[in-house]
Amino acid sequence: MKNISIMGLMVVSTFLISISSNAQENRLIVNTDQGKTTISRHIYGHFAEHLGRNIYGGIWVGPDSEIPNEDGYRLDVLKAIQNLEIPNLRWPGGCFADEYHWTDGIGNPKDRPMMINTHWGGVVEDNSFGTHEFMNFAKKIGAEPYITGNVGSGSVEEMSKWIEYINFDGVSPMSNLRKKNGQEEPWNIKYWGVGNENWGCGGNMTAEYYANEYRRYATYARDYGANKLYKIAGGANSFDYNWTEVLMKNIPISMMDGLSLHYYTVTGTWQNKTSATDFDKATYLVTLSKAARLEELIVRHGAIMDQYDPEKKVGIIFDEWGTWFDVEPGTNPGFLYQQNTLRDAFVAAISLNIFNKHADRVHMANIAQTVNVLQAIILTNDNDIILTPTYHIFDMYKPHKDALLLSHHLTSEELSIGSEKMESLNVSTSKSEDGTVNISIANINPDKKIDLEVLLRGMNAKSVTATILTAPEINSYNSFEKKEVVKPTEFKDFKLSKESLKIAVPAKSILMVRVK
Ligand code: AHR
Repeated sequence: MKNISIMGLMVVSTFLISISSNAQENRLIVNTDQGKTTISRHIYGHFAEHLGRNIYGGIWVGPDSEIPNEDGYRLDVLKAIQNLEIPNLRWPGGCFADEYHWTDGIGNPKDRPMMINTHWGGVVEDNSFGTHEFMNFAKKIGAEPYITGNVGSGSVEEMSKWIEYINFDGVSPMSNLRKKNGQEEPWNIKYWGVGNENWGCGGNMTAEYYANEYRRYATYARDYGANKLYKIAGGANSFDYNWTEVLMKNIPISMMDGLSLHYYTVTGTWQNKTSATDFDKATYLVTLSKAARLEELIVRHGAIMDQYDPEKKVGIIFDEWGTWFDVEPGTNPGFLYQQNTLRDAFVAAISLNIFNKHADRVHMANIAQTVNVLQAIILTNDNDIILTPTYHIFDMYKPHKDALLLSHHLTSEELSIGSEKMESLNVSTSKSEDGTVNISIANINPDKKIDLEVLLRGMNAKSVTATILTAPEINSYNSFEKKEVVKPTEFKDFKLSKESLKIAVPAKSILMVRVK
């Protein structure tokens, strides 16, 4: 018998754990004529920090590299990200943002000073990827830049001048410097974060102290020309509701457009986060039920925000979310490199379904992180890349972006493994501009196919197409040797009749069903 430790509890491994589901009808009623909230495409945002091999080696190899590149950007990664049509990219951190001084990353790369990346492995940062390199990358991938300013070790003046450098169109010291560095036109960036995790790596501040600092920084974060900034306050760590209360109380709504929130799905403890690839069914369900706690966070932080902002003008910006496991054995612990299995795809699917459901308050979200770090969408080695199961979920979920959120009613059987219980099905429903209804369905039951009856109220459905992501095992993953173990394929096991749409949802699978 093998025992594993989860959150300090001893849990008996799979072969002794009972897996059961209560037999009941699985039915989804979709109100195709009822919707009032648009799912912002920005919920499908990403995050690239100067951490491990995310920027250096992942996105940026430099123009002189032997790795095929376009102006220094790794070509295989560039193309894969372009295909995802990501709406925004957050940069330069994370914790790194609060020790980053932007003036170190402009001008001739040969003259740029070096620094130590104290948070992430103590490696030397040569600043060869700076503001211009980031802005050009964002342009190439068609994403809106989201920049986080330095509050922890920077100054109001430094952030204010960065905004002037990037956004001012007239004659000024900073815009002249930008022009001298080769960028004539201002970039007009909208999204600005005022620090990151200022309760922790961003300065260990109290909520009261940060609220005052935010007001100072936001005052000098100026709009230039027609460009109106969207200012994002550094929000709470997971379940710290006091932080949200204090910020909402002390920062006028007129000074803040978004309030960030961070939550990582940590399966074990922060000391023993457990393996990304070696886990059993009980651990799998622990991970998914922890991911589903995102909903509780949105509801409870949202309820506090409602008291000060009943019209929901201030968005929850979930700008760090995803799985955090122990690093791959043999890799630098400071680089946060982990593999990505079908389980991660479920975490992504469940999280995105939850964000969609609360799109009236959740205006943006950014999975952590883009390449080679935490729940990455892409992994690289020297000359090859892997698209992870998480990448494929973002690809499959594209139709939800900017679609109208549809209300639905789901009855789903309960899955229980050991002491953990969850509904077997997890769903999101939306309507695209052309009237196509999008239904994303995750069947988290690792062993059982579920026959789902879908009633499309208010619609005369004529045709259906569907895509499925599944794999031989819940811990299947793509490796450099076998790159397509987990990849989406066409799905046809459904039947459309006048009365309903019947779908045989395979065990451990995620579907995107599109009905016209
Ligand atoms: O995403 C990795 C780190 O997690 C970020 O730098 C920080 O903001 C968070 O603690």
